[in-house]
Amino acid sequence: MNTRFVFDDQIDFVKSSVIEGTQFEDDSDQETIDAKDILKRELQDERKTLPIYKFRDELLKAVDEYQVIVIVGETGSGKTTQIPQYLHEAGYTARGKVVCTQPRRVAAMSVAARVSQEMGVKLGHEVGYSIRFEDCTSEKTMIKYMTDGMLLREFLGEPDLAGYSVVMVDEAHERTLSTDILFGLVKDIARFRPDLKLLISSATLDAEKISDYFDSAPIFKIPGRRYPVEVHYTKAPEADYIDAAIVTILQIHVTQPPGDILVFLTGQEEIETVDEILKHKTRGLGTKIPELNICPIYANLPTELQAKIFETTPEGSRKVVLATNIAETSLTIDGIKYVIDPGFCKIKSYNPRTGMESLLINPISKASANQRAGRSGRTGPGKCFRLYTSYNYMHDLEDNTVPEIQRTNLANVVLTLKSLGIHDLVNFDFMDPPPSEALLKALEQLFALSALNSRGELTKTGRRMAEFPLDPMLSKMIVASEKYKCSDEVMSIASMLSIGNSIFYRPKDKQVHADNARLNFHTGNVGDHIALLNVYNSWRETDFSTQWCYENYIQVRSMKRARDIRDQLEGLMERVEIEVCSNASDLDAIKKAITSGFFHHSARLQKNGSYRTVKNPQTVFIHPSSGLAQLLPRWVIYHELVLTTKEYMRQVTELKPEWLVEIAPHYYQLKDVDDAGSKKLPKGQGRAAL
Ligand code: CDP
Ligand code: MG
Repeated sequence: MNTRFVFDDQIDFVKSSVIEGTQFEDDSDQETIDAKDILKRELQDERKTLPIYKFRDELLKAVDEYQVIVIVGETGSGKTTQIPQYLHEAGYTARGKVVCTQPRRVAAMSVAARVSQEMGVKLGHEVGYSIRFEDCTSEKTMIKYMTDGMLLREFLGEPDLAGYSVVMVDEAHERTLSTDILFGLVKDIARFRPDLKLLISSATLDAEKISDYFDSAPIFKIPGRRYPVEVHYTKAPEADYIDAAIVTILQIHVTQPPGDILVFLTGQEEIETVDEILKHKTRGLGTKIPELNICPIYANLPTELQAKIFETTPEGSRKVVLATNIAETSLTIDGIKYVIDPGFCKIKSYNPRTGMESLLINPISKASANQRAGRSGRTGPGKCFRLYTSYNYMHDLEDNTVPEIQRTNLANVVLTLKSLGIHDLVNFDFMDPPPSEALLKALEQLFALSALNSRGELTKTGRRMAEFPLDPMLSKMIVASEKYKCSDEVMSIASMLSIGNSIFYRPKDKQVHADNARLNFHTGNVGDHIALLNVYNSWRETDFSTQWCYENYIQVRSMKRARDIRDQLEGLMERVEIEVCSNASDLDAIKKAITSGFFHHSARLQKNGSYRTVKNPQTVFIHPSSGLAQLLPRWVIYHELVLTTKEYMRQVTELKPEWLVEIAPHYYQLKDVDDAGSKKLPKGQGRAAL
């Protein structure tokens, strides 16, 4: 790319290789079809153009013949949207629902929306979706898209999945924790439910391994429609991939022929940053360059905004999709000709020794890099710009991503399996077993939470906890609220914690106002959990007013979601027979309930203003956004750790150390909470009295 660029900075790429497309018989025809004609066609005709269509009958025949089939096909070949419809057309839904699992919420929702459109039915009727805290299905539903985690939870109510005639575990190559557990469970029920059909579909070539696992199930290959992709690498490593991505977007935009751009970023924050900078830069250029339509897509993006990425780009302008890993295989966006791959993704890692889980930005694998590149060659020859060198690609990237089961906290899964009556976890039929250290840690943690007894059996508390679709620590906090008679407050706090970090907003031009509004909820230095409760209760008092949210710099959408979650938690309270009662004036009671769930997350102030986690000592800090960031109480409990420039505790509440011994006597002894040794603070550093 030697064309003069409107900005000073520019990135030098070297063309390195071409990933050859597998030839599809219809390639030439496909190319000559006028784009406008395609638009005019009915959706039904469009279905027939998908690569999978030619294999419809053959596939149905195979499903009829075999109980388990592994399906492999290039992303965009029509697996997710078409196979459930074929099965429906062939009469499978007359015997039970067809369910198709997705690792991601956004994919489940958007694919269900697409299929309901294709079938001409209302979303939630014949075609629906179910994701955590949102069930968009009805009595009528025959085709159901859901997250793998939700199907896992359905086993709790219906261990043989009697309501389903076909289970399709889609995007199996992603190897999420829930998918891996589902593998074991569906393999098991297939043995005593010969009428149940099982389809495992994958976008990559790990099919042999999956087939082996499912007792040599036949592999059905769908040849993809794929054009060659030119791969370009940077000449030298890039120091700042965000910056490099922005420069490359603009570089493509001004120098390359029409075609949309897909950029892979690691998360919402990055996407928002790039979105903002791009808007700023292109605004500055006015009419000097053609219009650039910026479309973000990530898991928490509100549904109504998600549809935007599928809209066709008006002539003369160019679309740039800023996506997380979701666009790697889960979602197919037509019209992409250029892919920008910075080479990173956010990945969960877990240290079973310390029990700490963190979401870290890591280099992707070679398999991911190739998937990403492939996104540009779906409708014609494409180009992929890798923001790393070919040396990096060859020498630094792993071949495949490690399955989630080997790098995550397993407490949740162990609790689910135990509730399903699966006790012998060591001999559970894992495709890739988790490290035994991690299994042990999970058992230990559940024991400390009183969810399991010393023989590893589920207790009454454990059974109640398993009813909640939440992390064990959150469900324990809710179950414990019964004892402290503050279930109303604790449910609100749990709901607010569940929506993550998107409650307050801080517009650039009104930061002071926004910060002041936020501080109001912290009056009395109550800590972040109680502040969240204050936000929720104040909103409830205004009868859930939108205006109130605006005035207080609070995201109304997040609040509505918190309310939905809370409604569902309240419904579950009835199931576990916990009375909903309020104890708003007794903050200690509420904090004790929180501690009952989160006592693992305790930390003690050090002389230098940092904190030390009590068990498995680690140095951590209070996140600057916390209401306690200036106060530095001697003992705190935190909701989660986030690693940015430092290891930060987010959502922090002050704690009395004796509570730890009182609430978790089998986990803490008096010596752990002995306060000697951290008495003196440097001058000028405030400290809350206990
Ligand atoms: O699952 P697979 O990657 O094989 O393909 P798919 O998700 O079934 O997508 C097939 C086609 O459906 C895509 O090429 C898109 O044209 C279309 N589609 C869409 O328009 N909107 C969606 N939400 C999903 C798919
Ligand atoms: Mg798919």
